Amino acid sequence: MAASDLADPVDVVRTYDDESWGDDGPTRNVEEIVESGHVLAFPRLAFALAPDEHRFLDPRWADPKAKNVSLRWPAGELRGAVGSADDLQALRAMIVRFAEQSEALALRLFPHYRGHLRRGNTSFRPTDVAGRVRSWRQDDTRLHVDAFPSNPMRGTRLLRVFTNVNPHGVPRRWRVGEPFEAHAKRYLASLGRPLPGSARLLAALGITKRPRSEYDHVMLRLHDRAKADAEFQRTSPQARADFAPGTTWICFSDQVLHAAMGGQHMLEQTFLIDAAHLAEPERAPLAVLERLTGRKLLA
Ligand SMILES: [Fe+2]
Repeated sequence: MAASDLADPVDVVRTYDDESWGDDGPTRNVEEIVESGHVLAFPRLAFALAPDEHRFLDPRWADPKAKNVSLRWPAGELRGAVGSADDLQALRAMIVRFAEQSEALALRLFPHYRGHLRRGNTSFRPTDVAGRVRSWRQDDTRLHVDAFPSNPMRGTRLLRVFTNVNPHGVPRRWRVGEPFEAHAKRYLASLGRPLPGSARLLAALGITKRPRSEYDHVMLRLHDRAKADAEFQRTSPQARADFAPGTTWICFSDQVLHAAMGGQHMLEQTFLIDAAHLAEPERAPLAVLERLTGRKLLA
């Protein structure tokens, strides 16, 4: 029997007909859908490239030493790209336009977040997912929730907007997995607690940008345990989700179990929002984990 026959169906993708990034699009007030762990997919919402921008759909613009081409806000400085000053200026303008359109879209879909959504990095990924060599911990072809060793979120959410700009008809292929609460229950009892004083030590040594809360400890352990668990990867409830070129999709990547199995040429915008400003904060991973453990995790 194939592994997929063992898996329960996972139905997390919700599809919408929007063709516009701006305020004239039809979908709005869908906070509860994204906060309950769905992926919102817009198969008719393409990020349009100008004729002279198609040349950027080539890995040669990506610095081989960098993970992605990216913009760092608030200044919007370009990182990880190689080329002449004129080319890099045009490349940056394309990525800035994506950041602005993503923000307009997010504020229309989720008006409750207005005034609270902070723009994180914007990334452009012209390289093939399959071609990247990684350690198991960095291997994003394994199902995981997003959590970062050096960047404790302290309950702040990661809302991500993705768009596939592949010019050759190649979809972005994801797997999506079980709901967050079921996932947390699978591993929570065996995760262990941080060593006393470790949060302050990691911050003092510069390993983390700020003290790693117990929430971040749990999220990082969940990320690592899932990726290291071959049995989980093979047999847990999961479904394929293919995002064709011209598709834009949005989810809370710290909540939706996801794996990027293939694809090339994508743009991604990260937004940060404090859990307190969600429409339903009790659905956030922080609240779910505090309920399951019976204690506060942001001490
Ligand atoms: Fe991820």
